[in-house]
Amino acid sequence: MKNVIELKHPLIEHKLAILRDKKTGTKEFRELVEEIAMFLCYEALADAKLDEETIETPICKMKTGKLNDDNYAFIPILRAGMGMLDGVIQVMPNAKIGHIGMYRDETTFEPVNYFFKVPKDIEKREVIIIDPMLATGGSAIDAIDLLKSKGVKKIKFLCIISAPEGLKAVTKKHPDVKIFTAHIDEKLNENKYIVPGLGDAGDRIYGTK
Ligand code: PRP
Ligand code: URA
Repeated sequence: MKNVIELKHPLIEHKLAILRDKKTGTKEFRELVEEIAMFLCYEALADAKLDEETIETPICKMKTGKLNDDNYAFIPILRAGMGMLDGVIQVMPNAKIGHIGMYRDETTFEPVNYFFKVPKDIEKREVIIIDPMLATGGSAIDAIDLLKSKGVKKIKFLCIISAPEGLKAVTKKHPDVKIFTAHIDEKLNENKYIVPGLGDAGDRIYGTK
C-alpha cells in the first residue's frame, strides 16, 4: 500500500502506549490525541509547496519560502476527529475548517452521515481529513466520496490508529488519497473494533462511557 505512510518513531510508540492504556484518563488522552495529530500533520505536509519570499535576517537578506494556509482546509469527522483539530491548527493556524458528521451504526457497522459543512471554495484547496480511527474504512470512504462530489481534487487522511482491512478498502476505492497513520494495528474484532486499538476514541475523548 504505497499511499499509506506509517509514523515509525520511538516517540510516537511511547505516546501511543499511554494513549492505548485503559487506565489513561480523559485529560491525558485528549492531550495525546492532539500531540500525535500534530506529528501526523507535520509528516503530511512534507510535500507542501512554499511561496517564495525575501526576508531580512539581522545579518542579511535571503530568499526563502512560506506556507500559504489559504491552500488548505482541515475536515474533522465528528465527533472523534474534533479531538485532533487543535493539534493540526497549531501547525497551520489559518487553514479553513469544515465538518463532516458521521457515526457508525452499531449493528450494521455502516457509516451514517448526519452533517456536512465545508468552506465554499473547498474545491480549490488541498483537504486534510482528520479522524483518530480507521477501522472498516467505511467512514473514510464516505467522507472522501462526499468531498470528491464537491470537486475536491487533493485529499489526505490522517488517523492515529488504523486496521489493515480498512486501509485496504480505502486505498482500493480511493488510490489517489494518501493516508498518514501513527500505527497500523493487527486486525478488527467481531464488533469491528481495532485490535489491540484503544477502544472507542469518541468515548475516551469526551468521557461519554
Ligand atoms: C469512529 C471513528 C471513525 C469510525 C471508524 O467513529 O472516529 O469515524 O468510527 O470506523 P470505520 O472505519 O469502521 O467507519 P464513531 O462511529 O465511533 O463516532 P463518534 O466519533 O461520534 O464516536
Ligand atoms: N471506532 C473507534 O472509536 N474504535 C475502533 O476501534 C473502531 C471504530
